[in-house]
Amino acid sequence: MQTRRLRDTDEDIRLAGELLRQGEVVAFPTETVYGLGADALNGDAVEKIFWAKGRPSDNPLIVHIAERDALTRLVREIPPSAYPLMDAFWPGPLTLIMPRQDGLPEQVTAGLTTVGVRMPGHPLALALLRAARTPVAAPSANRSGRPSPTTAQHVLEDLDGRIAAVIDGGPTGVGVESTVLDLTADVPQILRPGGITREQLEQVIGPVELDPALLQTSAGQAIEKPKAPGMKYTHYAPRGEMWIVEGEPAVVMARIQALVDEARSQGLRTGVLTTYEHVQQYQADAVIPCGWRSDLASVAAGLYNALRRFDQLGIERIYAESFPSAGIGLAVMNRLRKAAGFRILY
Ligand code: TXA
Ligand code: MG
Repeated sequence: MQTRRLRDTDEDIRLAGELLRQGEVVAFPTETVYGLGADALNGDAVEKIFWAKGRPSDNPLIVHIAERDALTRLVREIPPSAYPLMDAFWPGPLTLIMPRQDGLPEQVTAGLTTVGVRMPGHPLALALLRAARTPVAAPSANRSGRPSPTTAQHVLEDLDGRIAAVIDGGPTGVGVESTVLDLTADVPQILRPGGITREQLEQVIGPVELDPALLQTSAGQAIEKPKAPGMKYTHYAPRGEMWIVEGEPAVVMARIQALVDEARSQGLRTGVLTTYEHVQQYQADAVIPCGWRSDLASVAAGLYNALRRFDQLGIERIYAESFPSAGIGLAVMNRLRKAAGFRILY
C-alpha cells in the first residue's frame, strides 16, 4: 500500500475524511501525539488499526469526537462528574472512561463494558473529525511497543506502506498522551497519567485516585494488574537498554558519567538522556536533551523524539536522569519507567 502524505489544506482534509468514511486508516496530529484513526462505527476499519500497529487485540481504543452530541452513540449513560470535566478540559488531553453504548463494534472496546472518549484540542484533528462525520477510534500512530509519534516523520518510520495516509501537521504540542480517567469507579481513577494533571482534575471534581498499578517503581515488584489494558505492555521503549538514575542531581550526574565510561569500555555505544541545563556535563556517544528541567512541560513535549533519536544513532545503552513526579512530571516519569522496563538505580 502506498501511504499518501497529506497537508493542512482544506482539500487534503476533505480527502482524509473521505478515506475514513471508506473504511481506511489515516494518521493525524492531535495536541498530544499523532493518532491512527478509523471510523469507530465500522469494525472492519477498526481492525485495520490493529493490523497496522501489530497491536494486541485485547487493548481497547480511544474514540475521538468533535461535538458532545456524538456521545449519545458511544456512551449509555454519562456520569454526572463528566460534565464539569468536559466543560473544563475539552477539547483537550483528557480521555473519559464511561459505560459503552450497545452497537459499538467489539474491536473498539476489546470486549470491555466501557469506552474511552475524548475531544482532541488540535484544530487539524477537529477539522478531520468534522470532515469524516463519524466518531474516530485512534490509538497512538506507532508500531506497538515503540515510543508514540510526535511528528509525521515518526509515523512514517513505523507505518509507511501500512496505512492509507498521514496528515502532516508539524510536531505535536503536549508530547505525552491524554490522561485516561475512569469515571465508572466510585472515586474517579487515573488509569494513565497524561496531559491533564491530577492536580488540575482535583480542582474541578475533588479527590481523584491513581490506579495502584501506576505506583510500581521496579520490575520485580508484585503489583495489581493495571486497569487500562494498554498499561501492562512494554511500551515507549527505545531499542537500546535504558536505565534511569534517581537521586541528588550532582550525584546522579557523576554516577551517570561513571556508568557511561564503564559501558564504553565494554565497547557499547552509549547515550545520556538529559536536559538543556546539563548537556555540557556529559561525554558519551550521544548526549540528548529532551527539554528544560525548569519546565517539565517542555520535557514532556520532547521526550518521545529524544527516545527515537537514540535509535537513529544506534545507541545500545542509555542512562537517563529522572524528574519530579508532580504535575506533568507524573506522566513523564510513568513513560520513562516503562521505556526503561523499570531498570532504575538509586
Ligand atoms: O493522547 C491520546 O490519548 C492518544 C491520541 C491519539 O488521542 N491516543 C492514545 O491511544 O494514546 P492509545 O491506544 O495509544 O492508548 C489508549 C490507552 C490504552 O492504555 C488503553 O488500554 C486505554 O487507553 N483504554 C482505552 N479504552 C479503555 C477502557 N474502556 N478502559 C480502560 N482503559 C482503556
Ligand atoms: Mg499508545
